[in-house]
Amino acid sequence: MSGYLVEDSRKVTTHRFKEMKEQGKKIAMLTAYDYTTAKIVDSAGVDAILVGDSASNVVAGNQTTLPITLEQMIYHARSVVRGVKRALVVCDMPFGTYQVNPTEGVRNAIRIMQETGCDALKLEGGVEIVETVKKILEAGIPVMAHLGLTPQHINKFGTYTVRAREKEEAAKLISDARVLDKVGCFGCVLEKIPATLAAKVTEQVRMATIGIGGGSATDGQVLVVADMLGMNNDFHPKFLRRYADLHTIMTDAIGHYVSDVKSGDFPNENELY
Ligand code: KIV
Repeated sequence: MSGYLVEDSRKVTTHRFKEMKEQGKKIAMLTAYDYTTAKIVDSAGVDAILVGDSASNVVAGNQTTLPITLEQMIYHARSVVRGVKRALVVCDMPFGTYQVNPTEGVRNAIRIMQETGCDALKLEGGVEIVETVKKILEAGIPVMAHLGLTPQHINKFGTYTVRAREKEEAAKLISDARVLDKVGCFGCVLEKIPATLAAKVTEQVRMATIGIGGGSATDGQVLVVADMLGMNNDFHPKFLRRYADLHTIMTDAIGHYVSDVKSGDFPNENELY
């Protein structure tokens, strides 16, 4: 393994997630949507890869995560799984595939597991989806919850601003987390909520909390890979740390290629048969 700080090269399981929380070892998670990126992300040592429905924005250029379909998520997850040796692969259930009723939810969950080979699923929402979560868990499928800013509810929220600043919403979030923990979720994404609230939830649940814009007290962190690599020039939320400027690197490299083609410098005599 050519990555960084990988203490344990065995395949990461949901059991390991809980162990890491208990041992106070932080969990590093990133998104990936394709084979090539997943292979790099995995070999660099992340513990978990999220095949996020953010593929709808990042890959397809949609404004929201709502349009991505079950078939499209299956395609992305299957491609990611092929590139991964160690990381736990979690696939988002897309909008509309688990909200109608628990039976439909579990049927779609089984389909994703069977057709992709991923390790677990992530569903957005609290107590309102708990019956579906229970059914999916009963089918032997590990579930990661997602609370706080849940992008599939953007039309209800009306804004991507920080969630649960108010007492009432914070209390509901804590209660949702406890319910989802009790029924057996192994993890929970906490997106864009006050750090003090994320810390409180982390303390009160056995499942591992994974923050994105939730401060440093959560059991792990997740970022969208294209954002942390700086591929997207016009997305600057406060929580995002950029580890590279791929936008500039790629633009320069492609510009260089274009000028080499135009000048006749590429291909040269060593680059032909
Ligand atoms: O789809 C996604 O990328 C996500 C992360 C932002 C947690 O759900």
